[in-house]
Amino acid sequence: MSHTIVIFGASGDLTSRKLIPALYLLSRKGRLPENTRIVGMSRTEFSHDAWRADLKETTAKFTDNKFDEETWAKFAANVYYHPGDLTKLEDLKGLKSFLEEVEGGPAERVYYLSTAPRLYISAIDCLGESGLANQEEGSRRIVLEKPFGYDLNTAKQLNKDVNRVFPEDTVYRIDHYLGKETVQNLLVMRFANSIFEPLWNRNYIDHVQITVAEEVVVGRRGGYYDQAGVLRDMFQNHLLQLLMVTAMEAPVKFDADMVRDEKVKVLRSIRPMTHDEIVKETVRGQYAGYRKEEGVPADSQTETFAAMRLWVDNWRWNGVPFYLRSGKGMSCRTTQIVIQYNQAPHTLFDKKKCHLDACRLVMQIQPAEGIQLQIQSKVPDEGMVTRMTPLAFRFRQEFQGELPDAYQRLLLDALQGDASLFARSDEVELAWGIIDPIIETWRSEKPPTLHTYETGYWGPNESNDWMAEHGRLWFDVC
Ligand code: BG6
Repeated sequence: MSHTIVIFGASGDLTSRKLIPALYLLSRKGRLPENTRIVGMSRTEFSHDAWRADLKETTAKFTDNKFDEETWAKFAANVYYHPGDLTKLEDLKGLKSFLEEVEGGPAERVYYLSTAPRLYISAIDCLGESGLANQEEGSRRIVLEKPFGYDLNTAKQLNKDVNRVFPEDTVYRIDHYLGKETVQNLLVMRFANSIFEPLWNRNYIDHVQITVAEEVVVGRRGGYYDQAGVLRDMFQNHLLQLLMVTAMEAPVKFDADMVRDEKVKVLRSIRPMTHDEIVKETVRGQYAGYRKEEGVPADSQTETFAAMRLWVDNWRWNGVPFYLRSGKGMSCRTTQIVIQYNQAPHTLFDKKKCHLDACRLVMQIQPAEGIQLQIQSKVPDEGMVTRMTPLAFRFRQEFQGELPDAYQRLLLDALQGDASLFARSDEVELAWGIIDPIIETWRSEKPPTLHTYETGYWGPNESNDWMAEHGRLWFDVC
């Protein structure tokens, strides 16, 4: 059967910056299923050729030296444009006729909603009413970009509305962090090697740190960001996904539901917190200058940095704190997961001469993708002096070349019907169930202090003080 990917919001930034370049690169590598066509739809009037010409320019820009005329010409021959408003039934009926005409027979379809989330529900209703969601004529999958709702209630409503038209196993909610090679490699590292499993639990691990630091500030996204804040923008999705992948048990198979069942169990194990606990267990920050960003009110209380301590109350993790932090305007762009092991139980070496840090395993998700096991080694020619040294693996050295962008993997999986790396409805709702009470406390009459921090550092000083109170240090390495 042939495949069609229909991109709604075709004239938008995501389409030209991420989706088309990813599809083009897949086609260049011969990975797109044979007979795959791409149909764009948005309200702007374009001819097929005008859209192709625009995409050619942007794709050349975003794929650098991987762009060549010949491959593009082949790829572009399967790219079409159909103007219309996806919230208007007659426009979707028009799209249906157009698709049937270009497909010329049965085809599997993926509908990609790359539009403002407020349009999701009316778009999905129209997809249903126009017959475009009819599964009897070939599989019909829908891909949704985050945010999936604004809080638990809106997420539940959205899931209900989506599932009225698209059964859950045809819904693909993108969290692009799951498309990152290094996040998938975490599963491989944990579950394809036997040496980590015995050490991956409360008996050996003191704590886990998950940092997603961004050097960029909010810039032109102030209007959106001020409504969202770092908890909705990063924690409800990306940070909790990283936590799930770190803490989950091994699924029986790499099967969409089995993987997601295990992830969901982690979220169910996260200890709920009262108002007072949230005040103690979280740190809020806003970078200096945020209130001057375009679209941000001068008295905004929105957080651009957050840190929190979560407890996963299950057999494996009982008593092991998970420290999560993320912020904009930080010292560098880095995403890393640190497994901090316990100190050796007894020290033979002179503490004054040795840096007796305990071993740690650092999984560098980006941008210097790799894994480092940091261990104590003897400093040569200095008696029994020790210091931390890395056993390191770098993706770019080992495999040469760049890692593919997350969208390549995710688009291919959506086309092939593999939902393992997409968020399921219960996962999304449970994640909101963890984040909502924190947002409520932060918006209450007695919120914890909103600390200001200078850009170019690791967030507010209070975040370091808070860690120090727990007898720990953030691992601040770019
Ligand atoms: C997005 C957030 O989901 O992820 C952005 O909305 C953030 O605010 C981005 O900058 C980070 O993604 P990455 O892949 O650059 O770490």
